[in-house]
Amino acid sequence: MRDHPRLPTSPGFWRSPLRGPWFTSVLGLVLLAGITVLFLTGLVSYAAYNPDLSRVNDTTPDKGILGFYLFAWPTGPVWLYRFTQGVHVTLGITLIPVLLAKLWSVVPRLFTLPPARSLAHALERISLLLLVGGGLFEFTTGVLNVQLDYVFPGSFYPLHFYGAWVFFAAFVAHAVLKTPAAVRTVRRRLREEGDDLVAPDPGPPTVSRRGALWLVGGGSLLLFLTTVGQSLGGPFRRTALLAPHGGKDPGGGPNGFQINKTAAYAGIAAAETGEEAWRLVVTGRTGTVRLSRAQLLRLPLYSSSLPIACVEGWSTADQWWRGVRLRDLAALVGYDGDPPDVFVESLQRHGAFRRAALRSNQVADPRSLLALYVNGEPLSPDHGYPARIIVPAAPGVLNTKWVARLTFGDL
Ligand code: HEM
Repeated sequence: MRDHPRLPTSPGFWRSPLRGPWFTSVLGLVLLAGITVLFLTGLVSYAAYNPDLSRVNDTTPDKGILGFYLFAWPTGPVWLYRFTQGVHVTLGITLIPVLLAKLWSVVPRLFTLPPARSLAHALERISLLLLVGGGLFEFTTGVLNVQLDYVFPGSFYPLHFYGAWVFFAAFVAHAVLKTPAAVRTVRRRLREEGDDLVAPDPGPPTVSRRGALWLVGGGSLLLFLTTVGQSLGGPFRRTALLAPHGGKDPGGGPNGFQINKTAAYAGIAAAETGEEAWRLVVTGRTGTVRLSRAQLLRLPLYSSSLPIACVEGWSTADQWWRGVRLRDLAALVGYDGDPPDVFVESLQRHGAFRRAALRSNQVADPRSLLALYVNGEPLSPDHGYPARIIVPAAPGVLNTKWVARLTFGDL
């Protein structure tokens, strides 16, 4: 039995016959498209918070010029955020086998000596470290966030946001350098002998390169099929075996659809939501009005069919909400014409997003409601009884539950 080099710095140490430019190029081109979509849908996710409207919406206030692209988030189509965040999370999870196979296919290069043959080579190696480190960091923080056991030190938002920029910058540099060769390699199936990815003394093949790609593709397909159901909702939800909001809906009936925070978790006591205790405080140009639920029910009520789309990528099918239009509440305090922005406060005393800001276009949209009913029944405590915000195309966290105060006015 021939001795094989023991150190990974020696080319002979890497014996898999699968490695080679073709295998790596195919994976690279898949990631080129996938990671670009991931980055763009991630940026969109941040924009959907309208972070430049108010500090309470901004999870990464120190972003500086990295917020150059922000814009007023629209209110339509109503499925917009459901789609972009569903794609972000589902694609992220689906790409994991491709990312790991790509890293495996190039791992010998990380050990080649000397570490830098020239300044250009040194810069390329540093960008590779940012690429590999950034990629692993983004995927890890993302998965931990959606799997609800986020154990990373520091807040997810700035880490994932800044990590995305570092990773994508290294990714663009890498793509500019490598894509032309990758396309040539895949198209023309160029000769591989002599390439430093190809094992000089390969071990016996266990599977072909094409077979290995099928395996990676199969792994991605499996992750896709056991994740996408949480975004599609309805009967597909049961297929989302790996997703925290997959499987059966929590309970039946009109209020039997997905939630994140229960009333108990948010510390909402039944005593403070009762007919006697609860009053909605609405403040604006002409002063303050305090309304009971009974008084709200005597105002003109409207219905909207809108989904809940969570930042974690899961969403519900459209639910039938009924309540008072936000713009009508603005009119009660002096905004008859174009309504302004509104600052929304919940009875919830702890936790992020117990306060949120909505932009005037969101307030003006006739489908934006202070909902009192859903699917024909009063809201359940877990869905925000006595009243909650529901706005088309907005991330779930901005649809405040257990609303206590609305302050209309330009923010
Ligand atoms: C498995 C992979 C990934 C998962 C599961 C994931 C998950 C998430 C989630 C849940 C959010 C929303 C956070 C929130 O608003 O609460 C998010 C935001 C974001 N993601 Fe990812 N992500 C992944 C990979 C990536 C990658 C590779 C990039 C960059 C190329 C990226 C870029 C972003 C950006 C820029 C945001 C906005 C951050 C913010 O709102 O502060 N993500 N991601």
